[in-house]
Amino acid sequence: MVPGRMLYLDSCASCHGLNLEGQSNWMDRLASGRLKAPPHDATGHTWHYSDDQLFTIVKSGLAAISPGYESYMPASEGILSDQQISGILA
Ligand code: HEC
Repeated sequence: MVPGRMLYLDSCASCHGLNLEGQSNWMDRLASGRLKAPPHDATGHTWHYSDDQLFTIVKSGLAAISPGYESYMPASEGILSDQQISGILA
């Protein structure tokens, strides 16, 4: 298995799904008003971001591209290296 795939399973699949499918009924907001983890396959909207934006989202969190935005998506800075993040995105 390629390293990026193993890292995805370790760090991301608990929320985004083993097969990138996201959380069930991901379009429904949670009671907290926050969103669930979206799928990263063609049924979601992840493809709509540029590679640079995706890198920033994963490293620094969504608030880095959308200031003040509150989300359950964790930032990976200090947990994953830049190289590991690039591997996961690939
Ligand atoms: C604790 C659960 C959780 C984990 C773990 C997690 N995410 Fe997320 N992620 C979310 C949620 C929830 C959102 C939706 C955030 C929002 O819009 O409020 C999200 C959104 C995203 C987005 C924005 C894409 C889009 O379609 O809106 C990307 C990219 C992303 N996650 C990548 C990753 C990667 C890569 C990892 C592993 C390093 C990861 N996530 C780990 C919960 C998680």
